[in-house]
Amino acid sequence: MERSVVVAALPDPLRSALDEELGKYPQTRLTQSVERLSSRYRENNPATAPILSSEVDIAAYAGYRMPATYAAVHAVLAEAALRAPEFAPRTQIDVGGGTGAAIWAAADVWPSLEKSTVVEQVAGAIALGRRLAEHAGGPAVRGSTWQRGLIDPAAPAPDADLVTLSYVLGELPEARRTDVVRWLSAKAGMLVLIEPGTPAGYERIVQARDELVELGLSLVAPCPHEGACPIPRGKDWCHFSARLPRTGLHRQLKAGTLGFEDEKFSYVVASRTAPERADGRILRHPLKRKGMVSLTLCAEAGLTETIVTKRHGQAYRAARDAEWGDAWPAQSTVD
Ligand SMILES: C[S@@+](CC[C@H](N)C(=O)[O-])C[C@H]1O[C@@H](n2cnc3c(N)ncnc32)[C@H](O)[C@@H]1O
Repeated sequence: MERSVVVAALPDPLRSALDEELGKYPQTRLTQSVERLSSRYRENNPATAPILSSEVDIAAYAGYRMPATYAAVHAVLAEAALRAPEFAPRTQIDVGGGTGAAIWAAADVWPSLEKSTVVEQVAGAIALGRRLAEHAGGPAVRGSTWQRGLIDPAAPAPDADLVTLSYVLGELPEARRTDVVRWLSAKAGMLVLIEPGTPAGYERIVQARDELVELGLSLVAPCPHEGACPIPRGKDWCHFSARLPRTGLHRQLKAGTLGFEDEKFSYVVASRTAPERADGRILRHPLKRKGMVSLTLCAEAGLTETIVTKRHGQAYRAARDAEWGDAWPAQSTVD
């Protein structure tokens, strides 16, 4: 049987706390904010002033983007946990954390987390993030620390087992990004960078990836090697997808009818300790036909098309189960 696509839903306490927050505003105000924010984020230009500038904007951001960024961060961290099974972080710093999607996702993936800190420039996002966090079941999110501050490579580097930066690089001026990546990686046990799954988001990720390799960190995911990225620049981009359910309110906000949506993201995870890297990474939806599966893989040798047929027995069964974004060979075929 084929594995069904994993759906990463917000934890129940977060979803209901968010619904309550959104209920404070008229629907029309939220919709206006969503429209304004969506077109601003689509512009894909660095921000010269905070994009989240009013309480209703912040609530709208949390309502329409937090479920999606949560799903993307969750998918990335779950993959990192698979590749680094010994990693049991106790501390996390989420930089540019907005309303805190990444601390909720990390706490779900690693119950070992005891202390989560969010650094964010917008006071209103901190206030909302803190109110939401009070509803968390686990101690790391419920007792999280929220610091108002700017990303500043001249300040002491974030010092935590896990440092996350999700959907922020693109808001920073291009000339500062390398310094920010160096700063983020200076003391992090594991560093996670996530961007929208667009050509521009991938470009920022691949530049950060090359910088992290240069700095001597080990790549945990998605890259199965530390050689040059084989994706033909300008023609394709490495990205993945996370499925999330749409709540009723989310559906209204996004004026859609589907019960789910797919959030596309690009990412890189790097660590001070060597991970258990698979030989390859599946870069597209596997093509599943009767008796055969075709996989587009990134591997040390470059990009390959691998055909797995019934003759391959266990590998074939694993390929039937495989999804875009998974490592290959699957763990079940190498144990
Ligand atoms: C698109 S939101 C992402 C929020 C959150 N990380 C997530 O994944 O949902 C970008 C966040 O980065 C924050 N940010 C952007 N530039 C920043 C800076 N220079 N210093 C601190 N925070 C910054 C913004 O205020 C905003 O909350």
